[in-house]
Amino acid sequence: MCGIVGYLGRRPALPILLEGLRRLEYRGYDSAGVALARDGRLLVRKAAVRVAELTRLTANLAGSTTGIAHTRWATHGPATATNAHPHTDTGRRIAVVHNGIIENATELRATLSACGVRLVSDTDSEVLAHLIAAAAARGGTLTEAVRAALADVEGTYGLLVLDAERPDVLVAARHGSPLVLGLGDREMFVASDLAALVRHTQQVIYLEDGELATIRADGYVTSSGADRPPTVVEDAPGDYELGGYPDFMAKEIAEQPEAAQRVLRGRLDERLGTARLDGLRLTARELRGIRRVKFLGCGSAYYAGQIGAGLVEELARVPADAEPAAEFRYRNPVVDPDCLYIAVSQSGETADTLATVEELRRKGGHVAGAVNVVGSAIARECDSGVFLHAGPEISVASTKAFTNMTLTFALLALTLGRVRDLSPAEGRRIARALAELPERIGQVLAESDRIASLAGRFADAEHVFFLGRVRGWPVAREGAQKLKEISYVHAEACQSSELEHGPLALVDPALPSVVLIPDDELAAKNLGTIEQIRARGGPVVAVTTTGLAVPGAEEVVRVPSAGPELDPVLLTIPLQLLAYHTARKLGRDIDRPRNLAKSVMVE
Ligand code: F6R
Repeated sequence: MCGIVGYLGRRPALPILLEGLRRLEYRGYDSAGVALARDGRLLVRKAAVRVAELTRLTANLAGSTTGIAHTRWATHGPATATNAHPHTDTGRRIAVVHNGIIENATELRATLSACGVRLVSDTDSEVLAHLIAAAAARGGTLTEAVRAALADVEGTYGLLVLDAERPDVLVAARHGSPLVLGLGDREMFVASDLAALVRHTQQVIYLEDGELATIRADGYVTSSGADRPPTVVEDAPGDYELGGYPDFMAKEIAEQPEAAQRVLRGRLDERLGTARLDGLRLTARELRGIRRVKFLGCGSAYYAGQIGAGLVEELARVPADAEPAAEFRYRNPVVDPDCLYIAVSQSGETADTLATVEELRRKGGHVAGAVNVVGSAIARECDSGVFLHAGPEISVASTKAFTNMTLTFALLALTLGRVRDLSPAEGRRIARALAELPERIGQVLAESDRIASLAGRFADAEHVFFLGRVRGWPVAREGAQKLKEISYVHAEACQSSELEHGPLALVDPALPSVVLIPDDELAAKNLGTIEQIRARGGPVVAVTTTGLAVPGAEEVVRVPSAGPELDPVLLTIPLQLLAYHTARKLGRDIDRPRNLAKSVMVE
């Protein structure tokens, strides 16, 4: 959602802060700001601008080796300079940057106003600056002041505090919103995300929930007192660079063969036709005892879960379904002790998915994570889990993480299937198809130019249908999601079988339909759907893994098949390309679509 960076050390802070913000901009880009401590004063610049513009606005600020910065995705109050972070107290002694939501902000604002404090912004975060300043004015250390202020605060926070009078220290606090400390040589970095740190250091400390850290150039002390060894991160600075691609979405689409290889590595046995997901920490006996599997996630993670549910039912014959995490948590679900709940999340920070995990654990459900970001809140909160190994995903629209989610669920389905009824021969067939998938994905990507040539059709359309049935249905949903989020062309996914029950009324020559045809027993029915649309004059683009003639379609995109069960994984890739090229044709800001942010940490 929002991004935090802090620096304290021996070098000028400003360039480091701005560079960090640039790398965190994908988390929010409504506004940006920076605060530096110099000569006992705070120097603050903030505006409803992107980081590039903030760099121009701060050109005359220099000379400080301590500072904090923020890039914001608006939740409380519109994107304006006043609502941008850092927030300061009236005396401009304390500056804070905050991720999360202060739930009792309204009451705290009222209390502060009653004491004569003038609040200038509409945000929940501003109260923190005033509360900390009031506590600091009573004496004691900055850490004590932050702790005292937070005693009155309800909600979630990743918080970084700068005191103009004590430029040799920063205080960080975490409750529900991630913060990572980066350890340098006589310098310390703080960020909400590794992206801002890996250029400077590979040695990091993930703050625990409820922990406060007092940070000085030569080290840090946490409130838990536990001296833990730093984590050495695998991410390299290059993972966060464009490396010659025009944007991160193009890079991440192209990285899929390699990312797919990583998620499969060491987890498949082609000879036995089995898979292993050690991170689940379940014995064969426990796996056999699972009576149901439920996938929970938001947005594309939920659609990936839907593909996973299909795979688990097909390969393991265990009832399975997927549900949006927020729907699940708010309907007070019956928690089944024999169900394996899978929390699906790229970022590992999505508020609704995290709250779902907490609720499930409270009620005794076994919940495993399928998470990309190591050290993230969901990964920590789950009983067990498997990492997606997609590598850092920067573009707001999920691509390689989505693919690795579906591959992880194929591994899960195979694991469950082979301790139940799936035959060795079938297991081998699936294991082989999975092992070949990275190469098949590469073959689909080779069709990129051909798909680009279709983009004009969608760029000119006002609405687009994505149609699929059974295995093709979650693929259609993900295809519609990708197109609308990055191109802003309205797209709707429909089950092909539901077409005649309502949506067909919309079909006309101005409404293109993308019809998915996996290589399965329903292919003939999908061809029938195309005929239905053509009979009403609707243009059709068929996307298929079959070699079938598709006479009703104006355009046919053919991709290699991975076998019926795994075709949904391959069929999503041309839809990513379709969305991408349409958005490019329309000149959209592909990595930063309007109104969206990479991690949704609000409910
Ligand atoms: C769409 C997209 C979102 C995310 C959703 C969940 O391309 O990226 O729909 O899938 O916000 O995010 P994570 O997976 O981080 O929990």
